[in-house]
Amino acid sequence: MKYKRILSIFLIAGIVVFMSSCGDRKGRVSSPPAESVTWVITAGENVFRNLITELSHTLQQAIKNEGIAGAIDMCSVEALPLTQKIADANDQITQIKRTSYQYRNRKNKPDKYEKDALDYFRKFVDTNVSLPSYYVQKIEQKSGDFYRYYKPLTMMPLCLNCHGMVENISPDVMESLKKKYPKDKAIGYSLNDFRGVVSISLSESIQGY
Ligand code: HEC
Repeated sequence: MKYKRILSIFLIAGIVVFMSSCGDRKGRVSSPPAESVTWVITAGENVFRNLITELSHTLQQAIKNEGIAGAIDMCSVEALPLTQKIADANDQITQIKRTSYQYRNRKNKPDKYEKDALDYFRKFVDTNVSLPSYYVQKIEQKSGDFYRYYKPLTMMPLCLNCHGMVENISPDVMESLKKKYPKDKAIGYSLNDFRGVVSISLSESIQGY
């Protein structure tokens, strides 16, 4: 009897130690070491520029051809595949996402690391300090460590056509948005408002590729 009890105490202690050692490496966020930061910034900045160039080119083309309401179709059909295409074309990148607490498409909902990044930029907004130009995380996971490079996005005049105050959005655009995104959270913004971030994931194993 006594022997059994001692055995079960050992077993429980073993499980606790095992679980806490797993927890150690599960989703820990830290500042990356200095030698990695340069690489993350250079690669991240490059991809960010490509993404913005591609997205704004496609958006402007769609607005020219089909008007703002028509361009919503392009955003809803092409924004995600276009973002994926840029990630696929770059060996260092494992994921690119545009995300925000006020998302329009549920697929762009922030994960816990992205929430940390959104909170980081939000603090500057709340204290009326101008936004830093990027934020970097090192994420340690059992499946492998990776980096995240974040760029803040603010509202420019063009954006307000589809993300501005309801009274400033034209009725046909509003109708199209309601139809496609009945749970839309991405309206009500003003010029220069902080809208969200571009989140770029880079794998550590291909650093310096
Ligand atoms: C023609 C309308 C239109 C314009 C103009 C527009 N957007 Fe959007 N935006 C959309 C639509 C539609 C989506 C949802 C795309 C999807 O389904 O992935 C979206 C999604 C986003 C997202 C992803 C998060 C989310 O809400 O799902 C961000 C960030 C974003 N827009 C920022 C901007 C910025 C910054 C500008 C100006 C440079 C801009 N948008 C201009 C229609 C527009």
